Amino acid sequence: MAEKKPATTVVVTSGKGGVGKTTSTAAIGAALAMEGQRVVVVDFDIGLRNLDLMLGAERRVVYDLINVIQGTANLSQALIRDKKLHGLHLLAASQTRDKNALTEKGVAMIMGELRSRFDWVICDSPAGIERGAVMAMKHADAAIIIANPEISSVRDSDRIIGLLDAKTERGKRGQEMEKHLLITRYDTARTKTGEMLGIDDIADILSIPVLGVVPESNKVLNASNLGTPITMADRDSPPARAYGAAAKRLCGQDIPLEIPAGRKPFFANWFGGRAA
Ligand SMILES: Nc1ncnc2c1ncn2[C@@H]1O[C@H](COP(=O)(O)OP(=O)(O)OP(=O)(O)O)[C@@H](O)[C@H]1O
Ligand SMILES: [Mg+2]
Repeated sequence: MAEKKPATTVVVTSGKGGVGKTTSTAAIGAALAMEGQRVVVVDFDIGLRNLDLMLGAERRVVYDLINVIQGTANLSQALIRDKKLHGLHLLAASQTRDKNALTEKGVAMIMGELRSRFDWVICDSPAGIERGAVMAMKHADAAIIIANPEISSVRDSDRIIGLLDAKTERGKRGQEMEKHLLITRYDTARTKTGEMLGIDDIADILSIPVLGVVPESNKVLNASNLGTPITMADRDSPPARAYGAAAKRLCGQDIPLEIPAGRKPFFANWFGGRAA
């Protein structure tokens, strides 16, 4: 059999909590799998375990990331294949409170193995800039930085961007990490009244290319209550279309950015390059 090209490893990160990292990991992971890619989403949010809920797989988790690190299970036992989307797999987080269980050596071993098995390894980072967040970004080739259109979120994203070059293997090798900005929970009305930041303001502050703009929508919560990523649950909804287009851009397709609620297309050279 011909040798497989190693996966592209992507970290979904933000600094600030509750901005949509897990939602975006599930939505983009599913969108890539719907394009025929072999995808694994990895939950680095030790102690919380949200990604399995968003994928409706919580009852199927027997072994998790920490079990594999500690050798009580092998990777094949811990990987959970999505029931509807066969290209999509989950490596769940553990409910242990011991964050030190996420060892450097263990994470390196797992990421190496996942890279050889999949086309995309997407790591859902916990909030903050502590150990879990650093471990999630450590082996990434590319980062999706999630920001909401508010100053506290953008400020925390800025801090994470600094770490992406300082704390990662890629940074150590002197290679720059490919960075993509995904603005989520975008609300046109509140931007117009000045209550929220505009896309150009956010992109200017963070100075990284925009991968997509996902509108605020209660369809996102409905999908997560169903345990199905929005890109599968409600394919034609505005947030699903935004995530689908972002996934295509991540694969290097040149698709004009759609701004929710009909503003003019946002050209500029803010588009990201290929991650693969
Ligand atoms: N586009 C959206 N429209 C409306 N609600 C959204 C949207 N995106 C995410 N949410 C909601 O925001 C909340 C937080 O989302 P999510 O859990 O994905 O964030 P997170 O960044 O992973 O949080 P944490 O930092 O705690 O891990 C959830 O209730 C989710 O349904
Ligand atoms: Mg999360």
